[in-house]
Amino acid sequence: MPYSYIRFEADASGIALVTVNRPEKRNALSTDIVRELREAFEQVEHEPEIRAAILTGAGEKAFVAGADIGELAALSPAKAQRFAREGQAVFRLIETLSKPVVAAVNGYALGGGMELAMSCAVRFASDNAEFGQPEAKLGIVPGYGGTQRLPRLVGRGRALELLLSGEPIKAEEAYRIGLVNAVVPQAELLSFSRAWLGKVLANAPVALEMALRSVDAGLDMGLESGLSYEAAAFAVCAATEDCSEGTRAFLEKRRPAFTGK
Ligand code: COA
Repeated sequence: MPYSYIRFEADASGIALVTVNRPEKRNALSTDIVRELREAFEQVEHEPEIRAAILTGAGEKAFVAGADIGELAALSPAKAQRFAREGQAVFRLIETLSKPVVAAVNGYALGGGMELAMSCAVRFASDNAEFGQPEAKLGIVPGYGGTQRLPRLVGRGRALELLLSGEPIKAEEAYRIGLVNAVVPQAELLSFSRAWLGKVLANAPVALEMALRSVDAGLDMGLESGLSYEAAAFAVCAATEDCSEGTRAFLEKRRPAFTGK
């Protein structure tokens, strides 16, 4: 599928690299980019040979420096609500994909950029990355899920510290508070992300999907319901050929050969 504002590269590794490609505007998310992100992640979900994705930004300065402030400035209340709901739907699509998505945060992840990174399964940051929700400085609140995902990731107090001050934090601080999973030199960010996904993709595909679904569903449930969901996911895995293969391979002291069945 041809894209105008993103790059979509899939190779034999089974990993799609999705790059927001507007470096001259620090990869700020226009409505067109958000629409293309939806198409790109629908493609990731539907193409069976793609098993995972890495999301990053073009250039060395920014992952995504937020929603396009030019567009925000012209929104009526009704349009603002639609703008937020449409973006939220795309980010939720990324969050609920049946395949793992890594945010490779290669620079500024501000506003909608930080919200986009938080929609991914895990976040790896380059050492020059900065994170922040500066919306209060613009007279708004985050509209792409920031007020909801940030406290779920780092806790209420730290989330409110970032949301109320609007001040950015550096990658190391983001790591310290649990917002990112690892910090690596910028030149190694993509190879680090690929290597991590390589280990993930050696595991059984249905098990990966069930882990993603169980965590996502469980965060919206009480413990009892979450445990019950987990037991059902466990039963789904137990019905797969990969479960027989994985357990047998362990007992036979060999590497498993998973087929996704
Ligand atoms: N929306 C629209 N345009 C943006 C943008 C955004 N979120 N972020 C950056 N840009 C544009 C700038 O207006 C500038 O455009 P110009 O060259 O036509 O003047 C270009 O990108 C480069 O930005 P600049 O500020 O010169 O780059 P920098 O490297 O010095 O600083 C940032 C980078 C990200 C720190 C700075 O651009 C910034 O603070 N951006 C806004 C971040 C923000 O508030 N995001 C939340 C939005 S809800």
